[in-house]
Amino acid sequence: MSYCGNALIMIYLVIMTEKKPAKVHLPVLLNEVLHYFESSQIRFFVDGTIGAGGHAAALLEAHPEIERFIAIDQDPLALEIAAETLKPWKEKVVFVSGNFENLDLYLARLGISKIDGMLLDLGVSSMQLDISEKGFSFLRDGPLDMRMDPANPVTAATVVNTYPQKELERIFRDYGEEKQWRGAAHRIIQARNEHPILTTHQLVEVLRPVLRVKPGKWINPCTLIFQGLRISVNRELEVIEKGIPKAIHSLNKGGRLGVISFHSLEDRIVKNLFRDAASDKWETQGLAGLFRDKEPEAILLTRKPAVGTPTEIASNARSRSAKLRFIEKK
Ligand SMILES: C[S@@+](CC[C@H](N)C(=O)[O-])C[C@H]1O[C@@H](n2cnc3c(N)ncnc32)[C@H](O)[C@@H]1O
Repeated sequence: MSYCGNALIMIYLVIMTEKKPAKVHLPVLLNEVLHYFESSQIRFFVDGTIGAGGHAAALLEAHPEIERFIAIDQDPLALEIAAETLKPWKEKVVFVSGNFENLDLYLARLGISKIDGMLLDLGVSSMQLDISEKGFSFLRDGPLDMRMDPANPVTAATVVNTYPQKELERIFRDYGEEKQWRGAAHRIIQARNEHPILTTHQLVEVLRPVLRVKPGKWINPCTLIFQGLRISVNRELEVIEKGIPKAIHSLNKGGRLGVISFHSLEDRIVKNLFRDAASDKWETQGLAGLFRDKEPEAILLTRKPAVGTPTEIASNARSRSAKLRFIEKK
């Protein structure tokens, strides 16, 4: 692939500063993303989760016909880093600080009515996980924050210290899929009555008695609680529900949307939204058999999601759980 010669663009090194850890960033499922856009003639493209700009650089390289590349991220630090990565295409790239759930507003502001391609690479970046001040990781002590968007008024500390027990239970059960959801919520309520829980390691300590390492399991016992908090703080499932229909609606005929998800909760929503868009039936209102016909809006390009090859998984841990789905507008 001609792209290989430009691998340096995507294997990009974040220059060390206090806030930016040294990290080689490898975009996940990159060959698969490029493959699904290979036959596309793209004038306007949106990367709704620009991150470090790895996928974006490869797409800009592979599609010199792109006139405008809209790069959205809710984390201003990601936009700063992407601006460095995408310097060679700076005349084409428009950076938007915001949430892809507002895609329609951003496109209207730019005077663009339809786009030819869009990519969403969901969730947090490895850079965000590595910055202890962001508080995403139980491995590093830091403030209990977990906001991708620093303007979000709700932090993980807000959730842990102020949400009612029932709401904590729901977050741990539905977003964390943690079996000990009830015990974890109860333990937090007990602990916060004594003192507020303000750091990641304080939370790990609070949860230690209820979340034990399961024999034969390699994952940290706090993984699912942290996942639940992160999803809640960033409204991660809600923004997918809002953003994907807007993305499909914004595509030109023949335009394509690719979404990379990292856990079953995200993938289920993507799968269902894509299936509905490609279906010739409206969703029923619960009355079996009372389907109404409609014109499908799109065609599914991936009935089963694309996943990482063993080689990619060996070199990029993040691709282990990645699933890529693609849809094409009719
Ligand atoms: C996995 S990284 C993207 C990596 C990127 N594809 C690359 O190759 O460098 C996800 C990025 O999306 C951003 N993000 C996640 N959800 C978002 C949302 N709803 N709106 C805007 N940005 C979002 C995060 O801040 C993060 O920078």
